[in-house]
Amino acid sequence: MKEILKLNEISPLVKNVFLDKYDMVAESANPEAIILRSFKMHGYTLPQSVKCIGRAGAGTNNIPCEEYGDNGIVVFNTPGANANAVKELVVSALFLASRGICEGNAWANTLVDGEKTIAEQVEKGKKNFGGNEILGKTLGIFGLGAIGRKVAAAAKDLGMKVVGYDPFYNGECEAEIVSQEELYKVSDYITFHVPLLDTTRGMVNASTIATMKDGVKILNFSRGEIVNNADILSAIKQGKVAKYVNDFPCAELINQKNVVCLPHLGASTEEAEDNCAVMVAEQIVDFIENGNIKNSVNYPNVSLDGKFNYKALILFNADKISASDILDDKEYEAVSSAVRKNKGAILVGMEKDTDFNKEGILKVYKF
Ligand code: MLT
Repeated sequence: MKEILKLNEISPLVKNVFLDKYDMVAESANPEAIILRSFKMHGYTLPQSVKCIGRAGAGTNNIPCEEYGDNGIVVFNTPGANANAVKELVVSALFLASRGICEGNAWANTLVDGEKTIAEQVEKGKKNFGGNEILGKTLGIFGLGAIGRKVAAAAKDLGMKVVGYDPFYNGECEAEIVSQEELYKVSDYITFHVPLLDTTRGMVNASTIATMKDGVKILNFSRGEIVNNADILSAIKQGKVAKYVNDFPCAELINQKNVVCLPHLGASTEEAEDNCAVMVAEQIVDFIENGNIKNSVNYPNVSLDGKFNYKALILFNADKISASDILDDKEYEAVSSAVRKNKGAILVGMEKDTDFNKEGILKVYKF
């Protein structure tokens, strides 16, 4: 039986995908693939046998995707599979940012019946935890992927005006599409749904905050590192930012006034964990058995239907060689090929087994 190495606990539902063909194990010298959630793979020694990595979740900043891609190892994630869970928490964060829910709860837990009853203390003290309603306020959504679009629809249903910005936006969305500058200028609440990249690290900082509305409430359920903590704390002190609700507690942020930290709960629902695990397991099996690539973060999608005597998946450096150069002198029956950035993939169905060994080819898998 082929082995799939798990680097984190994974929903047992994957067994319905792996059946009795694959054994999911916590240790293996010869795994076909790796499945993980948040295990940090930077610096990890990858077994030579690994063909692909499946991240049960959206973010892949715990995986050296670029380096693995250069070695012909395909990394998958599960876009959308946990989007509903994150959306639900973001909706609750709108309320956490608006009313003194966390602070009021912490205060209520300190009350004791004494000279004044708890009920009397509540009536007197509750004014400290009042807030505002979200109805009619403007929510800015930075990043309109699966999560951002769901948040847009939910916020609209709750009576908010919703504007959105995404440099790679395509498709339909309940948000009115605006520029980044406009989003910062008009939003009472801003929620960020972006991956952690060099271009997004520290994107919420003193200069971007300065262009936002006074009293803006900021929600971060993407990654802690997209916000400059020192800058947001200073903006909170000055009253520029009214509240920062985030999923990324750290020494700087915990126990700070007007900061609500949740322990990375965004996608931590049973349903989301099951959805992500099953989706990534299906992608791994489809890759290992058929060479199809779907939802890879370091290679483009390719897939072929139908039966062939031989099939080969050729992964190549698109800066060095093109698909037509690779296929030039070859005989094949069907092909699916694509390039994304500097990485290309060709899946060919052939009658005869054929070798591919030109310069620029990073890996050839045969099926
Ligand atoms: C994601 O990247 O999918 C979420 O942040 C949850 C997680 O890290 O697993």
